[in-house]
Amino acid sequence: MAAARTLVILGATGDLTQRLLMPALYRLHRQGLTRDLRILGYAMEPWSRARFQSHIDKALRAFAEGFDARAAAGFVKQLDYASGQLTPQDVSAIAARLGPGTLFYLALPPPLFGTAAQALGAAGFAQPPRGGWRRLVVEKPFGTDLHSAEVLRTQMHQHWDEAQVLRIDHFLGKEATQNLMVMRFANRLLEPVWNAQHIAQVQITYAETLGVEHRAAYYDKAGALRDMLQNHLMQLFSLAAMEPLSTWDGEVLRDHKVEVLRAVKPIDHRNLDAHAVRGQYRAGRQGRKTLPAYRREPGVARGSNTETFAALRLEIDNWRWQGVPFYLRSGKRLAAETSEIAVQFRRVPGPLPGLVRADEPNWLVLRIKPEQRMDLQLTAKRPGLQLEGHGVTLTAPYESAGNSGFSAYEQLLIDALAGERAHFLRFDEVEWAWRIVDPVLRAWRHGSPDFYSAGGEGPATQARLLDAGLRWRSIAAGSGADA
Ligand code: BG6
Repeated sequence: MAAARTLVILGATGDLTQRLLMPALYRLHRQGLTRDLRILGYAMEPWSRARFQSHIDKALRAFAEGFDARAAAGFVKQLDYASGQLTPQDVSAIAARLGPGTLFYLALPPPLFGTAAQALGAAGFAQPPRGGWRRLVVEKPFGTDLHSAEVLRTQMHQHWDEAQVLRIDHFLGKEATQNLMVMRFANRLLEPVWNAQHIAQVQITYAETLGVEHRAAYYDKAGALRDMLQNHLMQLFSLAAMEPLSTWDGEVLRDHKVEVLRAVKPIDHRNLDAHAVRGQYRAGRQGRKTLPAYRREPGVARGSNTETFAALRLEIDNWRWQGVPFYLRSGKRLAAETSEIAVQFRRVPGPLPGLVRADEPNWLVLRIKPEQRMDLQLTAKRPGLQLEGHGVTLTAPYESAGNSGFSAYEQLLIDALAGERAHFLRFDEVEWAWRIVDPVLRAWRHGSPDFYSAGGEGPATQARLLDAGLRWRSIAAGSGADA
């Protein structure tokens, strides 16, 4: 008898499946959360079920956190496999193996998303059986610009309704991202000051030490703006800036996020330098390790102008945020794994008479990497005879609170199977995010990026985005030191 729920992974022999999906499913299995779930891998390789199982066993050994050979063997034994092309005829062959509730996961190269959705639809798989459901999970990127995203949407909607399509942005499954909402709206202290009157700037940084690794074929076409800013950072941005929810409802949440994106002042291509900076890493050092230039990485075109660093300055044209710059930046091969949402408050109107050094601004920093925690930077009296202020930090560790939660993919797989859409992207979010970055992408078709040394802070030109008196926070000091 078919299990009540089936997860069909298209692209089951690929990288995403082995690095992220299977390790996440294995961990859910260990927690007893996949008991009624049949997992069916689908890919072109004409493999037997046993061959697929041993491929996944190897992947778990390499990538699963808390690997245990016995538990993995139990998990792998449940996996099923079917091979075929992405055509209606071939996919029809798995019809008998689908449960009443089936989730199709497109773990495929992006150019195949439309073809796969259409093949599944033409095979009749978008139509749920009585009392059942059918859903489609699509990985990022959803299109490569606004136009291609709209084309892809049309292809998908030939058979699938918007409500059936779950567009993944794995940042929405991260504990730190979800904490952003809880922290903002569950603390009376913050809401009254969460606006232009009290906040001077917001810096959202996602810095990685890794280079392009084995992903040049994808990355050299995508670049940092498409790979990180249009999706992940834009999500953090809209969650940080949106209005409070009147009710906990996935649609209301998504409406509020879209409202932020719609209110972003369009980037004027004639004044692009004031809003966008791109960089590419050249050779450099990390400790004693010598790092190659991006253009020397395997699979990268020798004269590639793809940006491995992108920074944007955005402004939101609404009452709450009038005049507050939001800076979004992300890059590869930077000095440290530092990722954070840093909110700088305005300075006090004037120092307390007689108080030495009290003009440091307060910062609230939500750190995502290297560890998840919140820091509130305040000024307090330095112990001693003088009335002197110095910076102190109140820290709320997140993981050491005894609950590291689920990984992003575990969380999102649970949600997708349960039909909970709040942490997936609705098409209009994707659309408005493309509207914001499209003028920059168009301009960046020409010219070349500014170079930065691998292992450093990114291109020096990023400073031109900052308003007078502001500084970029240090990436190298991401372990805790302030700006
Ligand atoms: C992915 C990008 O979506 O996110 C990668 O394609 C990036 O380039 C990754 O490294 C970062 O996410 P995480 O969760 O690994 O920090």
